[in-house]
Formats: sequence, C-alpha cells, structure tokens
Amino acid sequence: MPLQSMQTMMQRALHEGYGLGYFEAWDTYSLEAALEAAEEERSPVILGFGGMMADSAWLDRGGVQLLGAIGSVLAKRAQTPVCLILNEAQTLDQAVRGIEAGFNAVMLDTSAWEWDRAVETVRHLAQIAHARGVTVEAELGRLPDATDEGIDDSAAYLTDPEQAAAFVEASGADCLAVSFGNVHLLTDRYAPVDMEHLEAIRRRVSVPLVIHGGTSFPPEHIPQAIACGVAKFNVGTVLKQTFLQGVREVMRSWGDRVNVHDVLGSHKETDLLHAGKAAMKTKVKELIRLYGSSHKA
Ligand code: 13P
Repeated sequence: MPLQSMQTMMQRALHEGYGLGYFEAWDTYSLEAALEAAEEERSPVILGFGGMMADSAWLDRGGVQLLGAIGSVLAKRAQTPVCLILNEAQTLDQAVRGIEAGFNAVMLDTSAWEWDRAVETVRHLAQIAHARGVTVEAELGRLPDATDEGIDDSAAYLTDPEQAAAFVEASGADCLAVSFGNVHLLTDRYAPVDMEHLEAIRRRVSVPLVIHGGTSFPPEHIPQAIACGVAKFNVGTVLKQTFLQGVREVMRSWGDRVNVHDVLGSHKETDLLHAGKAAMKTKVKELIRLYGSSHKA
C-alpha cells in the first residue's frame, strides 16, 4: 500500500473521533512490531523513527538515510494505512534529508529555540515539504523531562494559546505538538495534565494537535483530548521498556549454552529480539484500542 498523507490521516481521525498512535521505533524489529500490531488491529498507524534519542552525529553521517530506507521498505508492504515520520529532527538539515530519504512527514524540534528562528526555520521547512506533499509537525511549548531525580521542569513551559495560533499561521505547520502538563519519559505515574488548558489551546488553534509524552498520558483523558482536537499520540519510553523486558525474560530462560545463530538475527521464535518485538506488539495493540483506532483501517 502506498504511504498515506499524515495530514489526511489526522483529518480523518478528527472527523471520526479517534486518535492515531505514533509508536516510535528504533530498529527493524520495533518498526515491524508497530506495523504488525496495527495490521492485526486493522488500525491506521503512524510509523517512524525519532531524532531526539539517537546520536546526532550518527544521524548526520547516513543514519537518516538508513532509517528512511528501512521505513520505506516496510511501509510499502503494509496492509493498513500508514505514514512515515522523522520525529524530533534536531536540525533543518536532518529534516530535509528525511524528506529526501522517503519520510512523508517530518517534525523539527524547535521547542528550545527562540521565536523568530523557530518560525523562520519551520516556514522554510514547510515550503520544501509541501512542494513534495510531505506533512510538517511543529511544536510550541516545551515538555518537562522525567529524570532519575524526578520531573525536571526547569526549561519547560506551557503552550500559550494565542502564541500557538500565531505560530501556526506564520510557519505554515500542518499540526502542532502542545505542552499542557504532559511529560516526556515519565514511567512511574501519569502526568498532571491540565485539560482546561488544552481546551483553551483548541479554541485558538484549528490544525490537528499532537500529544508527546504518550507513555504517561492519563488513559481516562484520552477521549476528552480527542474531542479537543488531538489527532496523534506519540509514544516512546514504554515501548522500549516493554521490548527490553521481553528480551530479559527470554535470556533468563537460557541455559549455559545457546546457539548464537538461533538467538541473533534469525528472525525465528528463538531470536532474542523476536521476544522484545512480541512484547512490544502486545503493548502497541493495547494503546491502539485506547486511542479508538482499531477497525478504522
Ligand atoms: P514518551 O517517551 O514519554 O512516551 O514520549 C515519546 C514522545 O513524545 C516522542 O515524540
């Protein structure tokens, strides 16, 4: 199936009242886990890779092209509607290379940039992207990060509704990631989200909204978030945790000797990373059901 436009997928999700999951992958096993889970749920899905946790130097020396190639091959064999995003590119150059490498949606992380530079750069990116039918996600506001010491909100700030409207208008972004109490990387509790603040943003911003920090987004607020214009939930940390747990469990079951060809790279049931993939698939399916996108393919 050819790649679908993320913009079109989000508009349909808003219209029909469900959310799309972006389940951030980091290799072929995790990307297959996200796709197979969506296919089995008969759900549309946003596939892709992120630029925040990967080494920027690696991305710059061919990593973006490699990820784009893997994503493009997998997306082509998808039996359900998919788009392919390069999430949280750290530079304009990375985002543009992402477009050239086959991603049909890009997000540039300008959350720490000052206003004029952010608007100007996203506007430039949108011109390049729109000429090729590629969707652009932008972000205004900055999420706190969870750390071992607790939630670090020293650089965080909430999305200002008026500024958000002005940012979308000036930059030409197709959708906007927002900050209203949601937290990145938080795993031991749900984030203290302020749904009234999200409603205030919605009253001023008409493009689809995006929630980053999907791991800790409180499930009971998902329907209200969708009603407030949220079309996409970004999930990362919990997927890696679940994957690693699956790998750990299977390693614990091993005896003293293992056949290395069976456990590394065989893609059989015995493959170490197959265990991680299977665990991640279960988690992705659970989230797809929460977002209400099952049977919407
Ligand atoms: P979590 O890792 O908190 O789920 O956030 C992922 C994310 O926002 C990727 O853009």
